[in-house]
Amino acid sequence: MTIIHLSAECYPVAKVGGLADVVGALPKYQNDLGNTASVIMPFYNNKFTQSHTFSSVFNAELNLAGKKIPFEVLTLVENTLGFAIFFIHIEPLLYKDYVYSNTDTERFLAFQIAALDWLKSQDNKPDIIHCHDHHTGLIPFMLQESFEYKSLNNIPVVFTIHNAQYQGWFSHDLVHLIPKFNFDHVGLIDWNHQINPLAAAIKCAWQVTTVSPSYMEELKEKANGLEWLLAHEHEKCVGILNGIDTAVWNPETDEFIIKNYNSTSVSAGKKANKKWLCDTFDLDDKKPLFVFIGRLVGEKGADLFPEIFSEVLKNNAISILLLGSGETETEQALKDLSADYKNYNHFIGYDEKLSHILYAGADFLIMPSRVEPCGLNQLYALRYGTVAIVNNIGGLKDTITDLSNDGFGIIIPSATIEATVTGILRAKTFYTKKEAFKTTQKHIMAINHSWLQSAKTYQELYKNIS
Ligand code: ADP
Ligand code: GLC
Repeated sequence: MTIIHLSAECYPVAKVGGLADVVGALPKYQNDLGNTASVIMPFYNNKFTQSHTFSSVFNAELNLAGKKIPFEVLTLVENTLGFAIFFIHIEPLLYKDYVYSNTDTERFLAFQIAALDWLKSQDNKPDIIHCHDHHTGLIPFMLQESFEYKSLNNIPVVFTIHNAQYQGWFSHDLVHLIPKFNFDHVGLIDWNHQINPLAAAIKCAWQVTTVSPSYMEELKEKANGLEWLLAHEHEKCVGILNGIDTAVWNPETDEFIIKNYNSTSVSAGKKANKKWLCDTFDLDDKKPLFVFIGRLVGEKGADLFPEIFSEVLKNNAISILLLGSGETETEQALKDLSADYKNYNHFIGYDEKLSHILYAGADFLIMPSRVEPCGLNQLYALRYGTVAIVNNIGGLKDTITDLSNDGFGIIIPSATIEATVTGILRAKTFYTKKEAFKTTQKHIMAINHSWLQSAKTYQELYKNIS
């Protein structure tokens, strides 16, 4: 099968969160299954694009509300990603040193139009178009309704919701940005009197997936206003758990970490990584090390950290190291905390290498998310022998079981200060049971969350609609 993924992010080209990891891995595994999977994404001005060479495969002008904007399709000259990748280069709109901004309506509409213009120009059409998140959410609608893309409207289109909190809403005043369609059908892009790309995708895609079975269930009750729509469309909706790229996330070969290890050498391996972290961030490596890695936003429960950390750090028995960026107020509160507790430190920003060392060197990963469609952090933690403390929701619920149920993690019943503090204290006690702790580390490292199984499930889904 020929599969085209469309996404705003793809690891290692441009990454803001887990979407990049998924789009940078799934096509690779789909190719291993004998498909020809590729990715189309915007061409940003970042480290990756500055340090690689690209060649041009297509040049044209796109029409954005009557304005003609030149664009180019580029591809990587030396590609070691494991899948073909194509970039939509629209200099004034997409070639920026960021992925997302507050002018995204125009930017990502131009991206979607250019991608479809290019696909339309080709003799060989893909068997499946697979769109990810609301930045590509108008593609299913445009394929079905825009006069311009009639020649593409029999291509099955799958849409994956990575996070239903973000829907890409914009005003009907901007409807002219969308290529011409039968206006009687404008209801397909509307939700609550706004143009809603996520809602449009749910209505128009042939199949809708999300990234864990539990999140699919939760969406029927809590989907930032789209509950009814998702319940109504439930027959074409399915939750497929994300996998991880076991070639990138492998403590035995990971080039980012300080010392490589496998399940036999886990104690020594983790010890060396922990020592490096504690030396670098001035923490005590004799104490259990708890880490958080992620976006500092309400969904991740990050606003609760200042109080949680103050509570658990006060008797000086654990170390905490946080890596993340996000809401200014939370960032500031988490910076301020360093002055009060010598066993706490932070790195506010984005650092891929440091994140790998944290998974490798930590004893525990804290994830009191309020919303977690899948969550990749806990899956990486498992692979690196780090015990996860997670709220019982979404993908966290589908991947972590509690120690008390013969499991290997610590489940907290809700994303509250009290529950998270209790979870951390349970972890601290578990850390003192050296043998049980070591057995759990070895056990979790052997859990298989490779993409292979999920790639096969997507394959079945594609077959059913093609
Ligand atoms: P989300 O996509 O909601 O942010 P996921 O758990 O799916 O959450 O994926 C987050 C990904 O981003 C993981 O690969 C994680 O390691 C990475 N990540 C998040 N924040 C940072 C950061 N500040 N520095 C480095 N990596 C980060
Ligand atoms: C989103 C979700 C996260 C998920 C990721 C990849 O960013 O918030 O839970 O793991 O997408 O699907």
